[in-house]
Amino acid sequence: MMASESQNWVFMVTAQTPTNIAVIKYWGKRDETLILPVNDSISVTLDPSHLCTTTTAAVSPAFHQDRMWLNGKEISLSGGRFQSCLREIRARACDVEDETKGIKITKEDWGKLHVHIASYNNFPTAAGLASSAAGFACLAYALGKLMNVKEDESQLSAIARQGSGSACRSLFGGFVKWIMGKEDNGSDSLAVQLTDEKHWDDLVIVIAVVSSRQKETSSTTGMRESVETSLLLQHRAKEIVPKRILQMEEAIKNRDFASFSQLTCADSNQFHAVCLDTCPPIFYMNDTSHRIISIVEKWNRSEEAPQVAYTFDAGPNAVLIARNRKAATSLIQRLLYYFPPNSDDLSSYIIGDKSIAKDAGI
Ligand code: ADP
Ligand code: DP6
Ligand code: CO
Repeated sequence: MMASESQNWVFMVTAQTPTNIAVIKYWGKRDETLILPVNDSISVTLDPSHLCTTTTAAVSPAFHQDRMWLNGKEISLSGGRFQSCLREIRARACDVEDETKGIKITKEDWGKLHVHIASYNNFPTAAGLASSAAGFACLAYALGKLMNVKEDESQLSAIARQGSGSACRSLFGGFVKWIMGKEDNGSDSLAVQLTDEKHWDDLVIVIAVVSSRQKETSSTTGMRESVETSLLLQHRAKEIVPKRILQMEEAIKNRDFASFSQLTCADSNQFHAVCLDTCPPIFYMNDTSHRIISIVEKWNRSEEAPQVAYTFDAGPNAVLIARNRKAATSLIQRLLYYFPPNSDDLSSYIIGDKSIAKDAGI
């Protein structure tokens, strides 16, 4: 048992994890419980100073059940996803000793002790900016740190994956690939880093927040309906994505912005086409999203080479990847021209390490 005699000690750790945005999208599961995807995907992990989750996980003999608070409000942990993450981390827990506090928790103790978890997203939750990715990656990481789990990032990614598929890619910085894997038990469905955050540091990411409201159809429900009804999804997963993954890996390796932007935009548009091909159709983008696409497409075509790539997750918010600082500056000027600060179309812009916020929502 615990070396500490007293029952009122608390041992806690805090972790911070950035979100990631896919440039080749994950949309569709072949196994709902284990969260195994129908195709590989590739993402870029964002600068943690703006879009990230901060999670504190605490353990104490005074806690009588596992509990969690998200953005200050208690949420239920009874869902299978939270239970999977807790179970998988607990199964790998090791002894913890904190001499300064006189706390010793053995491997066996972890099976009997309860945890309290408090998590905050510093950006809109469930609005299509991948809160589930940062959220579950941070949960797996914080619990892993608390319980002294020795697994490496890829092994942890397979646990985060069971919370939310996109979460497995947030355990690494830079460009990351989620390998779909072949095994039925999911043991080979995990994330690997393609290049670290220093590779291709010319790129500047600008996020145009069109709406921070919660989406009507969660990613989980949306992709389930697409798998059940969209023939385009089947074609995309089997015929299109495998080729695109290889091309995207080449583009990233060679810092080939023309290929990168062509593939990124095409894949975002195909993902939203799959949503339209779903019965009933799902509309994640809105008129403002479509206007942003037109502005970028026209601009790219008027230049010798593309300046900006766009991609939209399951929501109306635009993630714009500029080839360099000059292109990012020009992009912001264009956005400010088409969507003046007093218009209602965009609520804020988040730019690399700077942010021009119009409201207090961000
Ligand atoms: P998003 O586009 O923001 O990822 P999803 O529909 O995929 O939207 O997921 C939203 C859900 O993810 C939330 O309803 C919540 O269950 C979960 N989630 C979001 N943030 C966190 C967090 N910090 N910790 C744990 N779970 C989270
Ligand atoms: C459009 O990972 O949020 O952002 O696995 O059901 O939690 P669940 O879904 P989630 O889906 C993300 C979909 C996407 C594309 C992507 O991130 O690859
Ligand atoms: Co999500």
